[in-house]
Amino acid sequence: MLVTSRSYAEYEAMFDLKELPESVLDCSGGGSSFTAEAAARGVDAIAVDPAYELAPAELVDTVRRSLPAGNGIVDEHQGSFVWHWYGEPARRDEMRIDAADRFLQDVTTSPERYVPGSLPDLPFPDRRFELVLCSHLLFTWADTFDRVWHLAALRELVRVADSEVRIFPLVIQGAGESVPFLPDVLAELDGVTCEIRKVPYEFQVGADEMLVITRT
Ligand SMILES: C[S@@+](CC[C@H](N)C(=O)[O-])C[C@H]1O[C@@H](n2cnc3c(N)ncnc32)[C@H](O)[C@@H]1O
Repeated sequence: MLVTSRSYAEYEAMFDLKELPESVLDCSGGGSSFTAEAAARGVDAIAVDPAYELAPAELVDTVRRSLPAGNGIVDEHQGSFVWHWYGEPARRDEMRIDAADRFLQDVTTSPERYVPGSLPDLPFPDRRFELVLCSHLLFTWADTFDRVWHLAALRELVRVADSEVRIFPLVIQGAGESVPFLPDVLAELDGVTCEIRKVPYEFQVGADEMLVITRT
């Protein structure tokens, strides 16, 4: 799996963020600059990812290698992507490179913000974060992780969230098929409400919705 580098601006659009609460978890953070940029805005922002176990040089190499590799998925499925949000491919490349640079700088200067860990067992106490964001892991990789894993991962994200979990996108990577078990796993969650909400971002055709899970 690629360790990709989306920017704060992409997160803002994918999750339709207006204001950030006091504490936010990015699961999984990968090489994203979201945590660095949220922290610069005064937010208690933490990212978790199994890639943060890597030695620093290996992490740099993995993040850098994921930049062109991410474009390979787009090239293989050209008809499945639209460019109205980015404007043109060069703008997306520029955002990714800037985000990777910002991430790599922040992980060096503020390593405490980057916690090694994997779903479905996160190393945080119950309700640690007001908001938990999950970009391009659940549902995107439904061809790799099965229904049982997704249910356990969703329960874990809810466990560490005090208020809300937001997940984007809700389709499988590449061609963007829908996830057959999505309604079933949501029906199995207790003590929450689930809402599928339109967002002002689209890259994979039709992937313009996020899942919002709120504690009741
Ligand atoms: C496609 S990247 C997304 C990174 C970032 N959120 C973004 O949008 O650019 C997926 C990330 O999930 C991480 N990952 C893989 N397996 C995981 C697991 N079981 N639990 C948590 N994260 C995992 C990978 O290391 C990778 O960084």
